[in-house]
Amino acid sequence: MTQILRTRAELRAALANAPRPVGLVPTMGWLHAGHRSLIRQARGENPTVVASIFVNPRQFNRAEDFTKYPRNEDRDVQICATEGVTIVWAPPVEEVYVPGFDTTVSVGAISRPLEGAARPGHFDGVATVVAILFGLVGAEHAYFGQKDAQQVMVIRRMASDLALPTEVIACPTVREPDGLALSSRNVHLTPSERAAAPVIHRALLEAAAQWRMGERSAEVLRETMGRMLATEPKALTEYVSVADSLTLAELEHVDRSALLSLAVRFGPTRLIDNELLEWRA
Ligand code: PAJ
Repeated sequence: MTQILRTRAELRAALANAPRPVGLVPTMGWLHAGHRSLIRQARGENPTVVASIFVNPRQFNRAEDFTKYPRNEDRDVQICATEGVTIVWAPPVEEVYVPGFDTTVSVGAISRPLEGAARPGHFDGVATVVAILFGLVGAEHAYFGQKDAQQVMVIRRMASDLALPTEVIACPTVREPDGLALSSRNVHLTPSERAAAPVIHRALLEAAAQWRMGERSAEVLRETMGRMLATEPKALTEYVSVADSLTLAELEHVDRSALLSLAVRFGPTRLIDNELLEWRA
């Protein structure tokens, strides 16, 4: 039976006698097959699985994005029950940010480029809420999607620096058959934008293929992605990046593992995706 809990106190009480290890899957709800794959991996590795559903106001840099964020708790709880989640924690905002709350967790260099540059304050909001979740749940394992590659890196840094005992586990990106990465934001795409959106994955695959064929100029790979995206008039490119996969510093020469990543707007909807190029000496 899946329990739905709302308060910090209920969560603590339920976890006191729960079988270990505990796996935590933090989400903002509107669950899709990407979230499901995180839950399944957590189920496979932990007798107790906690999924949190909380649309975190602090990580939205535009108030409008926060109000527009899709929500359907009943459906999310159904999915969690089907997937065998032990506890759904779906708190009201004051159970996460308790009265007088006045702490921000701000991760340094790794949170500055790419999404950090495009969305000021975003990663402070993410790191703060995830630190609270790690503190409350005290899970042995927490599961995050590689789809948000920089987010995983920020959370890893945060957990390691703050000596939080939860191990951060990255899970593969789940895609639609046409390559579009699943995202809660995909519901905002019009049918013609949805039809155009797979260009994102094609751009990443084209650059990755070029790299596998021996291309080592990061600028050439960026141009390849930019050119592919430009074939789609509905796609407005925000950035394309070829960065060191450990530091996220932009590369000139791809002589180590690299992260290809990009952010593209379709109308008001902003989508991100990435592909890891693993260097083997
Ligand atoms: P949300 O966007 O709901 O995503 C929850 C988790 O699902 C994240 O770890 C995300 O990377 C993962 N995910 C999303 N799409 C995925 C896909 N197509 N394949 C695999 N995993 C996918 O990310 C957040 O919420 C928030 O920032 C959160 C970490 C919950 C903090 O508020």
